Amino acid sequence: MRKRSHIQKEETVDLSLWHFLPPDLPDPTVEAWNVANIFPEKKPIELEIGSGKGLFLKNAAKSFPERNFLGIEISKKYARLIALYLAHDITPNAAVVCGDAVLVLQNSIPDAFLAAVHIYFPDPWWKNKHSKRRIVCPSVVKLIHQKLISGGKFHFWTDVEPYFRKGLEVITAVSELEGPFDVPVSEPEHDFDYRTHFERRTCLNGEPVFRSLFVKK
Ligand SMILES: C[S@@+](CC[C@H](N)C(=O)[O-])C[C@H]1O[C@@H](n2cnc3c(N)ncnc32)[C@H](O)[C@@H]1O
Repeated sequence: MRKRSHIQKEETVDLSLWHFLPPDLPDPTVEAWNVANIFPEKKPIELEIGSGKGLFLKNAAKSFPERNFLGIEISKKYARLIALYLAHDITPNAAVVCGDAVLVLQNSIPDAFLAAVHIYFPDPWWKNKHSKRRIVCPSVVKLIHQKLISGGKFHFWTDVEPYFRKGLEVITAVSELEGPFDVPVSEPEHDFDYRTHFERRTCLNGEPVFRSLFVKK
């Protein structure tokens, strides 16, 4: 049997400050979005769609304590794992919602609210007949544009070149986001100095990563 890390064994940890479900989020149409439901302090909020094992949330929350980071992860197993990591480090400015990011964006996030949206290595849905399930698609890009504040950033990275090219086309065609801007790349300073686990794996395999940044006017 494979060894489980100590963090996965902690089944009795109180995750209530780090793990949320969509109904825990306020309804933006009937009340002002109160970050106190999720974060202890009001700060600009950055949203990550598809957080996986949560490396981005963990590192970003540490590097930018002046911001709050909210991950949305559809897999219950990964959402719990992320919450365990955040609880383990007692991270006050990051949390995860377990649910479908599209529904959360549609139903729970006010317009002109997010300082940034991050999508890293989204599921590629290789087969042509499945490609409409891709998260970077016209309807979701329009939603992202709507939810960003002016000056807000949209980060889209992937290791799948055709998805990247198509994604840039879609973003440019359906939104007024400016870009793509170049993304500077620096040498990692330690083994987990990568944006996400998928970036780490791709770079360690010597494969290319396609990175883009867009900004809302
Ligand atoms: C290929 S993984 C990449 C994970 C992470 N971003 C990384 O770079 O390491 C894609 C992740 O997106 C999650 N995901 C897929 N569709 C989603 C959706 N509609 N809402 C939230 N998460 C989703 C998957 O469960 C998976 O964890």
